[in-house]
Amino acid sequence: MEDARRPIAVFDSGVGGVSVLRALVNLMPNENYIYFGDSANAPYGPKTLKEVRELTEMHVTHLLEAGAKAVVVACNTATSADITILRERYPHIPMIGIEPALKPAVLSKSNPRVLVMGTSMTIRQEKFQKLLKIYEKQASIYLLPCPGLVEFIERGELTGKALYEFLGDLLAPYADHALDSVVLGCTHYPFVADTIRRILGREVAVFEGGPGTARETRRRLRQMGMLNPSEKEGVVRFENSLNIPEKIRLCRMLLDSKKNVK
Ligand code: DGL
Repeated sequence: MEDARRPIAVFDSGVGGVSVLRALVNLMPNENYIYFGDSANAPYGPKTLKEVRELTEMHVTHLLEAGAKAVVVACNTATSADITILRERYPHIPMIGIEPALKPAVLSKSNPRVLVMGTSMTIRQEKFQKLLKIYEKQASIYLLPCPGLVEFIERGELTGKALYEFLGDLLAPYADHALDSVVLGCTHYPFVADTIRRILGREVAVFEGGPGTARETRRRLRQMGMLNPSEKEGVVRFENSLNIPEKIRLCRMLLDSKKNVK
């Protein structure tokens, strides 16, 4: 029983995984969480596969040593690079990854036009390419790597002219594509979803991976009898490799934003 009260670890390259933490807290408010963001090394997207693997494994090891009962790799880039290796290394620990929410976007209507935004690494990796193969015949799918976008969110710049212009330039080629939906395939992007909506139009549906990942985490913990039996609200602890109070404050602010995302 004591085991099940241990925290769920949530890991990301920086502050973006808080979009997944938010979904986890919404779904399982009685669980305890330890969130670790590697902002000192963000962004992971432009790094080599070897670098992302080494960083991910180092931080996951730290989180397990800190007593985590499960690990949510709340980073599409780290998941695509390393989840298979992590699962082999820690076969008895629930290790939950995230992937771009392409499936719900494709299945949301017949033959939709879907734009997938993500880091270059996520889009290039075999894991996403396999997912793409499954759905590419049922939809028109456009892939958009977004180098430079993560930095805005890491700086806490979630609105404003510079962000609007950056996203405007990035999304301009898709303005005449009559998109049905956009998949936010990086956990940082939900924090700038309002600007993306303003540019693409309110009728474009926005999909993010956090809520599905949270449901999968609950399912896995339930299956293993590891859900926290406590009915009290749990505790969220933040850690960041950039050990400065601003980062922790930014994480808390992001967690409090839009708590009721479904
Ligand atoms: N938040 C991450 C993701 O979901 C990675 C962003 C980055 O560090 O490049 O892909």
